[in-house]
Amino acid sequence: MSVTLAFDVYGTLIDTHGVVSRLQELIGEKAKDFSQTWREKQLEYSFRRGLMQNYENFAVCISNALDYTCAFYKVTLTKDQKHELLGNYRTLPAFKDVEDGLARLKAADFRLFAFSNGSEDAVEKLLVAAGIRDFFLGVVSVDDLKSFKPNPAVYSHFLRKSGASGSNAWLISSNPFDVIGAISAGMRAAWVQRSRDAIFDPWGIEPTITVENLGELYEKIS
Ligand code: LAC
Repeated sequence: MSVTLAFDVYGTLIDTHGVVSRLQELIGEKAKDFSQTWREKQLEYSFRRGLMQNYENFAVCISNALDYTCAFYKVTLTKDQKHELLGNYRTLPAFKDVEDGLARLKAADFRLFAFSNGSEDAVEKLLVAAGIRDFFLGVVSVDDLKSFKPNPAVYSHFLRKSGASGSNAWLISSNPFDVIGAISAGMRAAWVQRSRDAIFDPWGIEPTITVENLGELYEKIS
């Protein structure tokens, strides 16, 4: 049976810092740090909601994290400006290496899925807007379980829904917490380290492979 690849979406296929140029126009030089804090806070909120079993979908985590980040940087944005930023977040761009890498993997008969904390509807729209939806057999969302990565149940849910088994399924992610979560749940996992500055958590659980981009992923696993 063909090997199944579960692609993480935010931060792996889609560049969450694609909002920086608009942020620069709105808030100036704090834009890069603001974007970083916004992203980290979204994830923290998803982890906390998962642990608390107090689920709201990822769009709520993104919106709550935007409010937090404005307060943290003492930035005042109007309702319309926040609305616009959240709109930008629904149409973020793919990283440069993504389209070509996915095309090569698909042509090599890998079964490609998107697997995300985002709701199915949000991820479908994001992938369509980025022009990469057609590479995937489907979108699997944690929203089905009302929990978030790295709950082991969401990785099992991916395997069930995609019809794969842990030994022939890989998670592909730039997010170390996601890679560690997948390996801990019995999948193989590739860490996409696009920047030399990205650090893998020193937990003693290592990625099955590390690659710099999806082109290198194709070369290493096909
Ligand atoms: C996702 C989060 C991890 O797309 O960014 O699942």
